[in-house]
Amino acid sequence: MRIHILNGPNLNLLGSREVEIYGRQTLEALNAHLRTVAEEIGVEIDFFQSNHEGALIDSVHAARGKADGLIVNAGALTHTSIALRDAISAVQIPTVEVHLSNIHAREEFRRHSVLAPICLGQISGFGPRSYELALRALAVELGEMQSED
Ligand code: DQA
Repeated sequence: MRIHILNGPNLNLLGSREVEIYGRQTLEALNAHLRTVAEEIGVEIDFFQSNHEGALIDSVHAARGKADGLIVNAGALTHTSIALRDAISAVQIPTVEVHLSNIHAREEFRRHSVLAPICLGQISGFGPRSYELALRALAVELGEMQSED
C-alpha cells in the first residue's frame, strides 16, 4: 500500500512560520516521524511539497497508478483551488485532507475548504499529529477497500 503526502504553499517554512499557530516542528522532522509510523503500520509513503499550485496538480496526476491514497495539506489553496480539487477528483485516489491548525476555529476565510467535499475526511487542529492520524486512518480505510475488492 502506497500513500503520497502532499504539502502546499508555505509548509516548507514549518518550524519557523507563525510558531504559535503551527508549532516548532520542521517539515523534515514531521516527515521523519511519519516514516517511522509508516514502517510500523506497513505502508509505503512519499512526500512532495511545493509553493506552486500547478506543481501540486502535476504531483496529484503523477500519483495516478502509483499511489493508493493521498494525504493533502494544501495550505491556503485549501480555501481557493478548484483546480487542485478537480485534479484530486480526476485521479480518483482516496484522499484525506489535513491541517495543523483547526481551520474552523480561525478566520472566516479559512473555515471553508473547497477540497473537503471530495475527500474521505478531514483532520484539522492536532498540529503535526493531524498527519499521523490521517496516515493511520487512511491505511485502515484503504485496507478495508482492498479487502472488499
Ligand atoms: C493550514 C491552514 C491554512 O488555512 C493555511 O493557509 C496554511 C496551513 C494548516 O495546516 O493549518 O497554510 O493548512
